Amino acid sequence: MKSLLIVYHSQSGTCAQLANAAWRGARREAGIAIVAMRAWDAGAADLERADGVLLVMAENSGALCGTMKDFLDRTFYPAIARELVLPYALLISAGNDGRGAQRQTERILSGYPFPAAAAPLILRGKFCPAHELASGELGQAFAAGLSMGIF
Ligand SMILES: Cc1cc2nc3c(=O)[nH]c(=O)nc-3n(C[C@H](O)[C@H](O)[C@H](O)COP(=O)(O)O)c2cc1C
Repeated sequence: MKSLLIVYHSQSGTCAQLANAAWRGARREAGIAIVAMRAWDAGAADLERADGVLLVMAENSGALCGTMKDFLDRTFYPAIARELVLPYALLISAGNDGRGAQRQTERILSGYPFPAAAAPLILRGKFCPAHELASGELGQAFAAGLSMGIF
């Protein structure tokens, strides 16, 4: 069975809600195991067990949030050593921008190297029904792609 790993960090709860909505969307696809982990609990072994990874994070001070950066810092060399090549998707929460976090994260992930499975999704402001819908659709589409072997 294919496995989708959702790694998230949330300070205020907004990203946790986005990750939860993505998880519920992914669960609509049969035959995929969905594992959601906080970024500070996740490591290279979790990436190794996964077939795809969805990163859910905030933009903080024009950059990806520190805890997600820490996750990427900790897993970079182990992922290269294990020759992991995982398709990824980004779900970014932001007050009014998000593009700095997107650019940085894409640049870091290109070094693993991980290929993008979907266009990055930036959702601005507080969690709302539109965010729930968009996050759920991203989770479901990623899970469906993994299930069909598209990525
Ligand atoms: C310290 C800090 C810095 C932030 N910097 C930015 C920023 O540079 N650009 C932006 O669009 N939003 C910024 N925000 C807003 C957050 O991205 C937004 O509130 C997000 O939903 C937080 O998600 P979380 O609390 O679940 O981690 C910042 C918030 C904090 C607390």
